[in-house]
Amino acid sequence: MEVVSKLRKLHVDVHVVMTDNATEFINPLTFRSISNNPVTVGMFENPQNWDIRHISLAQKADFIVVAPATANIIGKVAAGIADDMLSTTIMASNAPVLFVPAMNFKMYENKIVQQNVSKLISLGYLFMEPLSGLMACGTTGKGRLPEPSDIIDYIINTFDKKQDFTGLKVLITAGPTKEAIDPVRYISNHSSGKMGYAIASAALKRGAEVKLISGPVNIEKPCGAIISNVNSGMEMYEEVMRQYKDCDILIMVAAVADYRCLSVSDKKIKKSQDNLTISLTKNPDIAAELGKVKEDRILVGFSAETDDLEKNAMEKLKSKNMDMIVANDISKEGAGFCSDTNIVKFIIKNGQIKSLPIMLKSQVADNILDEVIMMKKII
Ligand SMILES: Cc1cc2nc3c(=O)[nH]c(=O)nc-3n(C[C@H](O)[C@H](O)[C@H](O)COP(=O)(O)O)c2cc1C
Repeated sequence: MEVVSKLRKLHVDVHVVMTDNATEFINPLTFRSISNNPVTVGMFENPQNWDIRHISLAQKADFIVVAPATANIIGKVAAGIADDMLSTTIMASNAPVLFVPAMNFKMYENKIVQQNVSKLISLGYLFMEPLSGLMACGTTGKGRLPEPSDIIDYIINTFDKKQDFTGLKVLITAGPTKEAIDPVRYISNHSSGKMGYAIASAALKRGAEVKLISGPVNIEKPCGAIISNVNSGMEMYEEVMRQYKDCDILIMVAAVADYRCLSVSDKKIKKSQDNLTISLTKNPDIAAELGKVKEDRILVGFSAETDDLEKNAMEKLKSKNMDMIVANDISKEGAGFCSDTNIVKFIIKNGQIKSLPIMLKSQVADNILDEVIMMKKII
């Protein structure tokens, strides 16, 4: 109720759809008077004007908020079930949908609920984390509805097409590198480039001038970025060193190979020996080199760890003079290479560590830019 009332105070046209079960808790008349609009419950009520209501509401909506989102509605949408006004409206709409789960903590922890949440996040649905604390059912745990003011802030932030990077030049590296062994073979890694490209797209949307130095990837290029394609770690290093001076913010996402072949054979190596030894030599550490020369530029690095994530990332941050490390535990499901989602922690120069829940790489990108712009304002 408070969410509807606060939105109305912000002059938002709010239409409430209630499930039958919700009407057991609150009389639709209450929402009608707060929203100043008719409240929709049943699928087959006589409409006031002749329109197919779930379609007209679905098309009219700029944003759909499901608060509180029960385990039931989350499960229904995840399973593609549209058997009442709310699930049908969600299904028929192109608007962003925000779920604000609230339920007994055991229900929220339930693997099926968690799988449904992960599935919907990977499909682009938005979720707020429930709060921990004492719940209506008398138990304590994670499952409480967030504060109405936080729900409103989330909605406003999602809507607010921020142009806070206008005038800023951002240099981003993305993707893997290929280290040649001979003319036909190379050493590489599983980086897809999705995270770096997502940051480039988000920075472009927020008004930045974006230069993207990309390793070999097979994904769509962010429209509007100035792209330099490179193959090897040495090429990436040289390109970064050539471009960094003209930039304000340096975000090093590329998974640059630590080592390259000491000597690259100019002919295809023949399959003659039983054992073959290839000598490797260290590639330049691009983030560390930038740390030495960055001056007041913001430097963000990525770190893929499998153990002692926070300790390793904090050590890297200090030794390489970075402003923030985005650390992902690539051993977790839904994090790291190739996936559309990521689970990251921000290790920040001021000693703060922020853990983000699983979210789309595009959402991680915006969270990174939020931190960067805060640092930029402080400098
Ligand atoms: C008193 C009471 C409180 C409930 N509270 C919740 C709740 O907070 N979250 C939840 O997911 N389900 C809760 N349930 C269970 C839901 O009512 C049930 O799953 C229902 O099918 C949800 O329907 P809906 O999603 O169509 O509103 C509660 C049930 C009762 C009887």
